[in-house]
Amino acid sequence: MKSALHLTPMLSALLLLQASAALAWDTFVVPHTPGENDTPGLLALATNHSSNATIMFSKGITYNIFTAVKFPVFTNVEIRIEGNLTYPTNISAVQAVVGGSGFPGSWFTFTGGNNVTLRGSTDPEWGWVDGHGQAWWDAVQQANRPHGWAFSHITNGVIRDMKLWKPVAWNFATSGSVNVHAYNNLILAASDTSSFPFNTDGFSAGGTNLLFENNRVTNGDDCLTVGNGAHNITWRNSYCEGGHGLSIGSLGSGGQVADVQNVFIESTVMKSTLYGARFKSWTGGNGLARNITWKDITFIDVPFPIYVTQNYWDQGVGPRPNVTSLLNNTHIQDFLFQNFVGSVRDKPYVEGSCVSDPCWYFVANATGREVAILDLYPDTATNVVAKDIFARTETGRPVAVMCNTTTVTNDVGFKCWDGPFIRTKAGL
Ligand SMILES: *[C@@H]1O[C@H](CO)[C@@H](O)[C@H](O)[C@H]1NC(C)=O
Ligand SMILES: *[C@@H]1O[C@H](CO)[C@@H](O)[C@H](O)[C@H]1NC(C)=O
Ligand SMILES: *[C@@H]1O[C@H](CO)[C@@H](O)[C@H](O)[C@H]1NC(C)=O
Ligand SMILES: *[C@@H]1O[C@H](CO)[C@@H](O)[C@H](O)[C@H]1NC(C)=O
Ligand SMILES: *[C@@H]1O[C@H](CO)[C@@H](O)[C@H](O)[C@H]1NC(C)=O
Ligand SMILES: *[C@@H]1O[C@H](CO)[C@@H](O)[C@H](O)[C@H]1NC(C)=O
Ligand SMILES: *[C@@H]1O[C@H](CO)[C@@H](O)[C@H](O)[C@H]1NC(C)=O
Ligand SMILES: *[C@@H]1O[C@H](CO)[C@@H](O)[C@H](O)[C@H]1NC(C)=O
Ligand SMILES: *[C@@H]1O[C@H](CO)[C@@H](O)[C@H](O)[C@H]1NC(C)=O
Ligand SMILES: *[C@@H]1O[C@H](CO)[C@@H](O)[C@H](O)[C@H]1NC(C)=O
Ligand SMILES: *[C@@H]1O[C@H](CO)[C@@H](O)[C@H](O)[C@H]1NC(C)=O
Repeated sequence: MKSALHLTPMLSALLLLQASAALAWDTFVVPHTPGENDTPGLLALATNHSSNATIMFSKGITYNIFTAVKFPVFTNVEIRIEGNLTYPTNISAVQAVVGGSGFPGSWFTFTGGNNVTLRGSTDPEWGWVDGHGQAWWDAVQQANRPHGWAFSHITNGVIRDMKLWKPVAWNFATSGSVNVHAYNNLILAASDTSSFPFNTDGFSAGGTNLLFENNRVTNGDDCLTVGNGAHNITWRNSYCEGGHGLSIGSLGSGGQVADVQNVFIESTVMKSTLYGARFKSWTGGNGLARNITWKDITFIDVPFPIYVTQNYWDQGVGPRPNVTSLLNNTHIQDFLFQNFVGSVRDKPYVEGSCVSDPCWYFVANATGREVAILDLYPDTATNVVAKDIFARTETGRPVAVMCNTTTVTNDVGFKCWDGPFIRTKAGL
């Protein structure tokens, strides 16, 4: 009920928009020339028809998006992808574009506007955007990677039915947008070989009043990442496989003053992901992340189902920073992890993103059987609770937790220690 209430402003805005009669609405088909770059034709068309229009990629055509697309500011525009879109297969050609002057930051960039819809196809054969990521992953090629879709500074936006095939880097980002509904999208960033799809984050939620639902993501980084400035974010009824979890942050890098509020994440299956629910802030940050709930999470084969750290740091750069009262920190308040059911991966493993020894995700003194790790600073974490947690380990050994009593002021729902998981009153 709570989530339904908080979405009301957004849904009513969308309903209003849909109720008003659209006058003079036209559909314009993107021109295509075999073997040629279709981006210039697309941009000419979009510039001419930046309001009250559908820009259509036709079914039956594979469009060559050989250079980056920076759309104009749109009003009442739908980008409709019924055909296939392909990036160049030539890695160095893509790198030349990304590294070149004037690159807008993503392969597809929306830079503002009102009532903008990005819509794919429900035909299983068509509507795919092919990034040809496999060759990049196999070559461990990480220079000048093309990010996917920047859906930035849009008011009243929709991202639906999109299908991304082997994207090279992160996928959808909604920074600065207000009232966005992203649903029925599919991201398949899975490698067919032993190579790893680095930094293929699914959805980066920045902005206000954003609803993500019925999305499926197989990737090699965060499934969802909620960034600084995000308010009123709902994520639900989704499936994440192989990546790094349902994350808030990272926040507080370089002393950043963070502000994240009212995030509700529910009804999601986490399959063989490194983390399930995750919060990460850097030592020395500032600000507040509050009112964040992860509810009804099923985790299967997950090493770190619940993981909160206010000590995120780059293991490649040096040792973990020491706690000092001179440093500020990102405060956290009212975090709830409720109804987590599943299996902790406690068999030996090396996750594909591990390239250092120890791995970047290594936790000193962890047994590998922890369903929850609360790695907090004293006096900066208020009301963090895990309740209705039902976990088993894959080996059948007892489930454990890590928690330091000097850093918490409330009953966290389990005995706060480095030891077996023992439910307490707040956990019932
Ligand atoms: C977030 O939702 C709450 C509750 O519905 C509402 O009061 C608040 O105005 C919203 N915040 C923003 C920034 O829209
Ligand atoms: C908003 O865009 C949709 C199509 O994406 C259109 O049907 C609707 O009429 C637009 N709203 C307004 C107010 O034009
Ligand atoms: C777009 O349509 C709206 C009505 O839906 C109309 O008020 C507006 O003038 C149109 N804009 C253009 C540029 O045709
Ligand atoms: C854009 O509009 C101009 C001026 O009306 C016209 O000459 C040109 O053909 C149009 N281009 C496209 C791609 O629609
Ligand atoms: C790939 O792109 C680079 C840079 O644009 C170019 O020099 C090279 O000839 C291309 N390779 C092929 C096989 O087309
Ligand atoms: C569209 O692209 C996807 C992904 O590359 C591919 O699997 C599919 O076969 C393509 N569709 C057609 C009709 O070629
Ligand atoms: C907490 O966030 C939820 C949405 O997840 C919202 O409905 C509720 O009003 C927020 N509560 C407070 C005290 O801000
Ligand atoms: C943390 O403190 C210990 C003991 O004082 C010291 O050996 C270590 O170098 C410090 N680490 C950092 C990153 O400053
Ligand atoms: C800690 O934050 C306070 C106020 O937010 C600021 O004045 C102070 O400089 C910060 N300290 C450090 C070490 O960044
Ligand atoms: C790990 O455990 C050892 C032995 O109890 C302790 O000395 C050390 O401080 C612990 N390390 C961390 C990072 O908690
Ligand atoms: C618990 O936290 C306090 C304060 O940060 C720290 O001094 C202590 O070493 C921690 N204990 C363990 C076992 O890590």
